[in-house]
Amino acid sequence: MPLVTTAKMFEDAYKGHYAVGAFNVNNMEIIQGIVQGAQKLNAPLILQVSKGARAYANHTYLVKLVEAAIETSGLPIALHLDHGPDFETCKSCIDGGFSSVMIDGSHLPYEENVALTRKVVEYAHAHGVVVEGELGRLAGIEDDVKVSDEDSSYTRPEEVYDFVTRTGVDSLAIAIGTSHGAFKFKPGQDPKIRIDILEEVEKQLPGFPIVLHGASSVIPEFVDIINQYGGKMDNAIGIPESELRKAAEHAVCKINIDSDLRLAMTAAVRKYLAENPSHFDPRQYLAPAREAIQGMVEHKILNVLGCANKA
Ligand code: G3H
Ligand code: 13P
Ligand code: ZN
Repeated sequence: MPLVTTAKMFEDAYKGHYAVGAFNVNNMEIIQGIVQGAQKLNAPLILQVSKGARAYANHTYLVKLVEAAIETSGLPIALHLDHGPDFETCKSCIDGGFSSVMIDGSHLPYEENVALTRKVVEYAHAHGVVVEGELGRLAGIEDDVKVSDEDSSYTRPEEVYDFVTRTGVDSLAIAIGTSHGAFKFKPGQDPKIRIDILEEVEKQLPGFPIVLHGASSVIPEFVDIINQYGGKMDNAIGIPESELRKAAEHAVCKINIDSDLRLAMTAAVRKYLAENPSHFDPRQYLAPAREAIQGMVEHKILNVLGCANKA
């Protein structure tokens, strides 16, 4: 099976009231762990690459690793640019073999976001690639951009129809209270997301696939292991899985997960090295890290996404 776009995945996910996991990838062990988890549960998969991942691992290395994942797994896999910062980066990924790109103009004034997104859509569609746009701003950190709580803003449902029809995007990321990273809420804050805004968006855009960024749950078990073995991640808080399940049953067809993979991997490496202080072969600590990624992906498919056996 070749690389696929997300078009059919999202159509099926919308109708089936589930979501497809979009997992961030940066190296071979992460890709292998994710793919093994999806393969075990026969789940469709989006592997996404950020600007930072391309800078770290090299575009061609990542594309070739994903090609290997497709060849060995037989799964429908989409390769997606996460948070494309400008037209040039999107074009480079479209020309360089991706099947889906995000253009993130969410920090721009509305009309500039429309114009930039439209430009990317025209180029992408002419090359058989689908596009995700974003309206509203999430708090948190992504690459070199840090958005403070005060600068974040919910998506305005009254804008989504205009944005989608004028840009021609294939899916839309919205801001409903999720945020990037491992510190999403302050201690004591109610960790809820605005399902009411999602419902309003859904009314404006019936049948249209919505994307949720910043959707890690920051599972305490992994934070505890990190803290137990020398880490310091006090007050790390994520989105409750029950909130994400509600979103997936609504119009959310793609749920982005990166921080939970990072936590699982880091917990496994810290634990392994603490328990085996004389080991120095990277395969010895990266094998449990890869297994931890696989376990996390299986957990997400079963408890959050609901996409087992939908490949
Ligand atoms: O949304 C951001 C993702 O977690 C990617 O993170 O930009 O550090 O690669 P990154
Ligand atoms: P998390 O930081 O919650 O995993 O979000 C990842 C994300 O949105 C990638 O685009
Ligand atoms: Zn994101």
